[in-house]
Amino acid sequence: MSLTISKTSCGREYKVKDISQADFGRLEIQLAELEMSGLMSCRAEFGPAQPFQGVRITGSFHMTIQTAVLIETLTALGAEVRWCSCNIFSTQDHAAAAITRDSASVFAWKGETLEEYWWCTERALDWGPGGGPDLIVDDGGDATLLIHEGVKAEEEYQKTGKLVDPTVSHNAEFGIVLEIIREGLLIDPWRYRKMKKRLVGVSEETTTGVKRLYQMQANGTLLFPAINVNDSVTKSKFDNLYGCRHSLPDVVMRATDVMIAGKIAVVCGYGDVGKGCATALKAAGARVIVTEIDPICALQALMEGIQVLTLEDVVSEADIFVTATGNKDIIMIHHMKQMKNNAMVGNMGHFDNEIDIRGLETYPGIKRITIKPQTDRWIFPETNNGIIVLAEGHSMNLGCATGHPSFVMSCSFTNQVIAQIELWKERGTGKYEKKVYVLPKHLAEKVAALHVGKLGAKLTKLTSEQATYISVAVEGPYKPPHYRY
Ligand SMILES: NC(=O)c1ccc[n+]([C@@H]2O[C@H](COP(=O)([O-])OP(=O)(O)OC[C@H]3O[C@@H](n4cnc5c(N)ncnc54)[C@H](O)[C@@H]3O)[C@@H](O)[C@H]2O)c1
Repeated sequence: MSLTISKTSCGREYKVKDISQADFGRLEIQLAELEMSGLMSCRAEFGPAQPFQGVRITGSFHMTIQTAVLIETLTALGAEVRWCSCNIFSTQDHAAAAITRDSASVFAWKGETLEEYWWCTERALDWGPGGGPDLIVDDGGDATLLIHEGVKAEEEYQKTGKLVDPTVSHNAEFGIVLEIIREGLLIDPWRYRKMKKRLVGVSEETTTGVKRLYQMQANGTLLFPAINVNDSVTKSKFDNLYGCRHSLPDVVMRATDVMIAGKIAVVCGYGDVGKGCATALKAAGARVIVTEIDPICALQALMEGIQVLTLEDVVSEADIFVTATGNKDIIMIHHMKQMKNNAMVGNMGHFDNEIDIRGLETYPGIKRITIKPQTDRWIFPETNNGIIVLAEGHSMNLGCATGHPSFVMSCSFTNQVIAQIELWKERGTGKYEKKVYVLPKHLAEKVAALHVGKLGAKLTKLTSEQATYISVAVEGPYKPPHYRY
């Protein structure tokens, strides 16, 4: 696939929906900056030293207003940036426009096809001569995946002379990935290996991306160091839990105008995201039921007064279904067939494989009515009952709304900036091998410290006697590494 790339007056490449929305984007970015105290502190603290002078950073991350503030923090620290989104529906076009005009190369728009999505990912990784980026900010691991699969295909081609064959993939999207790699191979059979050679490391944002990294570490296939930002407590508890808790009712309202109070809502998965969704739905008056495979998470739900059942137990009675497992094949076509008329089905997990959209698309005689973008009613022929599916099974808070609030994203993104600085600072020292690392606790505490003041908090100071008594230093860290918040 080849799409037309435009250039700004200063020569920056881009493809976005409408660059004339840049002024609107700038106004919202300025609003977000006031909320994102962690990122603004990073600019003040690290900006003067310009730690990213001459550094190329590629991001594969929802191109929202909040991400715009992250990008401009990286550029304020000296980086050159190329960016794509990690979700076909999550781009805020005015954010993409403002960043393109003022700061970085962006390849992203709301409503990409899967082919366009992977084209954008490949564009964001392509820095021209001299290989790819020095660092990657990834959310879900798609940029990392493209490099790994590219290297694999190039090595196979060199060894056997065989080009990668996209038609062997059973997964349509993976077929698109292989096609992009195949096209690249024909032009430059060293493209991804050059990228690998230059790349210092990746910082990964989300549970699902982190899972992929640990799988590669276990298989011995991880090609570069990775920092798991997700498991910094100031990311997982704030973005995954409080972010989802804040966003979910708004998403349901915006998409469907359905009143949550009194309804039966099923949340599949009671990890941080599931907890955030369940708490929000409960607070809005829903009768919440959780499905879980893990008895510990199930027990946590029960202690919150939330029933734990299987999907089969409740599928024909519930009104709202939210998946948040990070797993696949959670709500299948045979479930959706049994749902009540106008039941709402949406996913909060990272990828679109929790809900069986393909099963809907191929169901004989089914009718799809698009009520508005990212809100579809699917009507089953036997019953004439319709279910409302949000964002075609992609993350509903990013597809049907605009993601999490700036404040929680500032917590998450401050960890990202610290991780990027750490990877770059330690390049060549041997501190980071081809493994997955988490940030040390004192940095998570630092991220929290940059945000508590914004909400008017005053922290109590430990006396040295108290510090000795609980075996911590007066200046922290205040908890041992194994402490669970
Ligand atoms: N939409 C967003 O804004 C957003 C934000 C952060 C994370 N995420 C994504 O949300 C997903 C969940 O993240 P998390 O941090 O809560 O993950 P998690 O691993 O902490 O929680 C997932 C839970 O689902 C349970 N589970 C797994 N398979 C299941 C099944 N078949 N049925 C029922 N339960 C099952 C697991 O036991 C676990 O408790 C991930 O894909 C993550 O990347 C989305």
